[in-house]
Amino acid sequence: MRRHLLSSADLSADEVRMLLATAAEMHEVQRREVKKLPTLRGRTVINLFFEDSTRTRSSFEIAGKWMSADTINITGKGSSASKGESLRDTVRTIDAMAVDCLIIRHMASGAAHQVAQWVDASVVNAGDGTHEHPTQALLDAYTMQRRMGDLAGRRIAIVGDLTHSRVFRSNAITLRTLGAEVVLVAPPTLLPSGIDSWARADGLELSAELDEVLASGPDAVMMLRVQRERMSGGFFPTPREYTVGFGLTRDRLRALADANPEAVICHPGPMNRGLEISADAADAARSLVLDQVSAGVAVRMAVLYHLLAAEEVAA
Ligand code: NCD
Repeated sequence: MRRHLLSSADLSADEVRMLLATAAEMHEVQRREVKKLPTLRGRTVINLFFEDSTRTRSSFEIAGKWMSADTINITGKGSSASKGESLRDTVRTIDAMAVDCLIIRHMASGAAHQVAQWVDASVVNAGDGTHEHPTQALLDAYTMQRRMGDLAGRRIAIVGDLTHSRVFRSNAITLRTLGAEVVLVAPPTLLPSGIDSWARADGLELSAELDEVLASGPDAVMMLRVQRERMSGGFFPTPREYTVGFGLTRDRLRALADANPEAVICHPGPMNRGLEISADAADAARSLVLDQVSAGVAVRMAVLYHLLAAEEVAA
């Protein structure tokens, strides 16, 4: 495969399928009592996180450890970045220790692409600003595919704060790559600029009417977190009004089940319960939220395997 994973757009349908197939094998390891493969022995994987994270960081760390890599976590707050060191100096310093892989999360869109030009290590984008989060899209596709089978032709709604969501961007790309039908639902104030032309070019449907979309019987509904930490102004009048228009409430959960009894619900986490998703929806039998977390480790193992080990194993 390639050396870096920076954008979901880098991956062809065949590459996505290969990664998901490897993830299925890696998922088996999770069921074992002894969760250890020798695959990345002697390799060093650095988690470099300038933004907070629970799921992504720990799952990359677990993925590396289960494959016997030496994994190290560095956060913006505890590193020399807090002393004013530039991102370039920080990553070149780490790279000078001959590490094999840098997994980076940063508040600036484009940071991972930039870092990839500065270092010899493989770079994985674990979220760059409001831009992309390719491993999240892979784990979401994996989770849905496990439940629903092939995603080609499946109707998947992505709902909420599209303006601030890197999860939505990567998901829309990967889901289209796999041939799914994608409908984006958001209030007009939370639509990113340029979305119309992207939607036209890539065949994404746009809607501001969640009830209509739910009535159309989507196979999956992916709720996005309202990212209040990235909002400087008022993107909606009150939280209550947001929920009334765009929350997956108990009533909407029922409407979804009526329209498509098999429909599933996803959320990348962390959830704002009571805002974009009700407790009934988050904890429903059709909610895949914890399956997504479990898939996160398997998918990240697959990514590390293909970036760092696959060619050697084949050789
Ligand atoms: C997302 C992120 O950080 O982009 N979380 C995650 O990685 N699971 C989504 C979010 O913060 O809302």
